[in-house]
Amino acid sequence: MKQSVKMIVGNWKMNGLAADLAQAEAVRVSLAEAPTGNRVGLCFPATLIAQAAGRLKGSPVEVGGQDCHAAASGAYTGSVSAEMLKEAGASLVIAGHSERRAGFGETDADVAAKVKAALRAGLEPIVCVGETLEQRDAGRALEVVTLQVAGSLPESLSGRAFAVAYEPVWAIGTGRTPTVEQVAEMHAAIRQAQVERLGAARAPILYGGSVNPKNAAELLGVDGVDGVLVGGASLKADDFLAIVRAG
Ligand code: 13P
Repeated sequence: MKQSVKMIVGNWKMNGLAADLAQAEAVRVSLAEAPTGNRVGLCFPATLIAQAAGRLKGSPVEVGGQDCHAAASGAYTGSVSAEMLKEAGASLVIAGHSERRAGFGETDADVAAKVKAALRAGLEPIVCVGETLEQRDAGRALEVVTLQVAGSLPESLSGRAFAVAYEPVWAIGTGRTPTVEQVAEMHAAIRQAQVERLGAARAPILYGGSVNPKNAAELLGVDGVDGVLVGGASLKADDFLAIVRAG
């Protein structure tokens, strides 16, 4: 008997041209034929959001962006605002992915500002946190991640819909995953940090990093894991669907 609704979200990262939306269509068709009790979302590159939203309209697949600027509009060449994502058809947006923290120097304060922007626009943010291998090896994983939670979740999240994704940097795209004990320990620490920051927060906490059809059931079964954020394996409908149906 299924315990609870899981949240299964794909992050296509900088992958996908219009032709690849056939994969998203296949997810839609499969879920129409055999519905899942889980929440399902796909976060597309900004260029595909409007098309994806059109093609997934009326389906249970929620559409998301992968990042947004903190401002609603302005002289920020190349950036996309939360309002723009919302108008294009998104209902979710990722904030603070480690590829943005590391590659674009985003701080916890930047991430919190993006989360506020998401709320302003009516998007549900998925706030990413996670330690590097160096930090874990130094025994600092719990400290680093709980500080990220405290710094990245603005108080205005209180009472609003959002999710946190624990994505250890060393598990992303590497095929390595933490042990179930490490995941359980971290999710409990994130839950506690969230409650300390926002009061009785019940936001889902997702695990992300090398989730695939083979390990999804085990990871989704870990105490405190309310869903998964899937990178590479979300690009192919068959793999993603296997994960959606594993929870
Ligand atoms: P992979 O599933 O490819 O490891 O990526 C995880 C991730 O970064 C999702 O946001």
